[in-house]
Amino acid sequence: MTASAEERGTAPSTPPVLTLSGVSHTYQGRRRGTPVLRHVDLDFERGVFHTILGPSGSGKTTLLSLASGLDRPTEGTIRFEGRDLGELGLGRYRNRHAATIFQQYNLLTYMTAVQNVTTAMEITGAKPAGGGRRSRHALELLERVGIDRDTARRGVLRLSGGQQQRVAIARALACDVDILFADEPTGSLDEETAAGIVTIFKELAHEQNRCVVVVTHNQALAAESDRVLTLRRGRVTVTRGRPGAA
Ligand SMILES: Nc1ncnc2c1ncn2[C@@H]1O[C@H](COP(=O)(O)OP(=O)(O)OP(=O)(O)O)[C@@H](O)[C@H]1O
Ligand SMILES: [Mg+2]
Repeated sequence: MTASAEERGTAPSTPPVLTLSGVSHTYQGRRRGTPVLRHVDLDFERGVFHTILGPSGSGKTTLLSLASGLDRPTEGTIRFEGRDLGELGLGRYRNRHAATIFQQYNLLTYMTAVQNVTTAMEITGAKPAGGGRRSRHALELLERVGIDRDTARRGVLRLSGGQQQRVAIARALACDVDILFADEPTGSLDEETAAGIVTIFKELAHEQNRCVVVVTHNQALAAESDRVLTLRRGRVTVTRGRPGAA
């Protein structure tokens, strides 16, 4: 197990970057209004690689949609660095502070891989490292996730599922945000490629002090994280890590 900076005792205790308080969520039209999430209280912290486990249909994607500002909870509040997301502005939060790797990738299908990454940088205003060109930075990020330059210049519909997934990862990395959410980001990847992606998540959390939140069905991946949250029947429990903290 990799301990977070705080758990390793090397970082001062900082307030959580994202706090969910009393969050409940019910989809409209759901039979008898059964909530998907019930009174969830959660803190997500910088420097910590969190994973979320739970059976299919337990609400993992719903939780990410709320935490990433794509949807508003039916009840409860979500705060980024102490500010309610509604007050901060969902668009601003999504552009500047949070990036998501979606379960279904959500790539712009009429664009090439590299254009998908540069477009995300344009929209979010993320600056290339070292002040270089966006396209060069995008190609470097794609290379980091194992997409070579020829593949990067192909339309994304001409890529395999695993290659598309890696473009989605590179796109999120390009956004240079405080919190990275990822929904089953290694589901289409072979073991070796998946291990490379997990290494990137750990670096983001432990070396760049970002908050990383990854939904997975993969127990081995969860075992590499600092804090494992399990979602079941609308409630979240911490199954590993600092009890009560997340
Ligand atoms: N837009 C929606 N409208 C109505 N119900 C929804 C909607 N999205 C999800 N649900 C329902 O909410 C519950 C939780 O769905 P969610 O997608 O969050 O589960 P999950 O844990 O991500 O599952 P999986 O592991 O299969 O991806 C399910 O019962 C699902 O049918
Ligand atoms: Mg899901």
